[in-house]
Amino acid sequence: MFDAERIRRDFPILSTASHGKRFVYLDSAATSQKPKSVIDAIVDYYNTYNANINRGVYEISERATDAFIASKEKLAKFIGAHGIEETIYVRNATEALNLVALSWGERNIKSGDHILITEMEHHSNIVPWQMLAKRKGAVLDYVKLTHGMAYLDMEDLEAKLEKSPKLVSVTHVSNVLGTVNDVKRITKLAHECGATVLIDGAQSVPHMRVDVAAIGCDFMALSGHKMLAPTGIGALYGRRELLEAMEPVLGGGDMIRSVSMHGATWNDLPWKFEAGTSNIEGAIGLGAALDYLDGIGMDSVREHEQELTRYAMDRFSEINAVSVFGPPASDIENRSGVMAFAIKGVHPHDVATIFDREGIAIRAGHHCAMPLVTQLVTEKALSRMSFYIYNTKEDVDRVVDAVGVVKRIMRIKD
Ligand SMILES: Cc1ncc(COP(=O)(O)O)c(C=O)c1O
Repeated sequence: MFDAERIRRDFPILSTASHGKRFVYLDSAATSQKPKSVIDAIVDYYNTYNANINRGVYEISERATDAFIASKEKLAKFIGAHGIEETIYVRNATEALNLVALSWGERNIKSGDHILITEMEHHSNIVPWQMLAKRKGAVLDYVKLTHGMAYLDMEDLEAKLEKSPKLVSVTHVSNVLGTVNDVKRITKLAHECGATVLIDGAQSVPHMRVDVAAIGCDFMALSGHKMLAPTGIGALYGRRELLEAMEPVLGGGDMIRSVSMHGATWNDLPWKFEAGTSNIEGAIGLGAALDYLDGIGMDSVREHEQELTRYAMDRFSEINAVSVFGPPASDIENRSGVMAFAIKGVHPHDVATIFDREGIAIRAGHHCAMPLVTQLVTEKALSRMSFYIYNTKEDVDRVVDAVGVVKRIMRIKD
């Protein structure tokens, strides 16, 4: 049985108070909180086997290397990759997306080529393509949104695929709308047009069962810190043949097989893309985070978040002054636990500030998705709450009470 209250107790920060009240954390789409098992795994590494990996022959270095590789094996299994060769460790999803642009993109995108992304992308899946398109003289196309800007317009996608883009890069889950895109179908359509497909999994991998083989994508980017791991560790999944054919972006230690005065040859995958000393504590923390999530089961994670989202949308529907963006409650199957909302007549920063005083952490602003948010609202900002395994219906009730406080302070009538 899923027990969010019990899970909550595994997260030390959630037993702290905020402004004298039970702390309600609703900003997991920005970064998740960390369970004690993850914190302990990192502390244990520094206390008992801190050493560099892949080169020492002494006991603790071998132990650190084993833990690093075990983390990669866990991640490969978690996302359905074939093995550790297909999991490149980077700092975060942003770096993973940039790695594709700088390596695969540099070689494969030519002047006049089309790159297709969507209007619901995070800046991390926009700016690298703008930069690449500028360098190469390529064309950057955007799939439009439809149905009150809640979904990708699949007709527009198909029309733009007719221009035979070399790359289609799409977010699995929108960090603003909460929309869960049908990335399997998008990948199939894109492959039929000869495109390579990159999925931004930053908001999906932490929250639902994601299987890169079932999706069929060529690349996927993800961030560890949004899925219980520390900051500074993320991954790029890539199909082995593609990664084999790609050139490394950074040169240095570990990524080489041999170096002479005149040149170098590259190491095997995944090390070819991991120059220099890795984020060892991050990888160990990610390994512990994956163990924790596996212990709960990703289907249970998803079910819990859907239940909370349904409950929150239900409660918000009682308040006329509140509007919620993204797919409606009736389409919870295609919604994640990310909820951007607006309170009529109140700036989102005021909402977030008043919420903070009520002990509730939410995010307000453009959510690194300015092309989307500027189309959604004239204020160019939205409030956003986002759920994870440690949130409860009581948290939602606290939010509804806080909306009441906002309305009272700002003198908003329903
Ligand atoms: C959809 C999406 N993509 C990419 C990112 C970038 O993640 P990071 O900042 O960890 O690189 C985020 C972060 O919020 C995101 O929500």
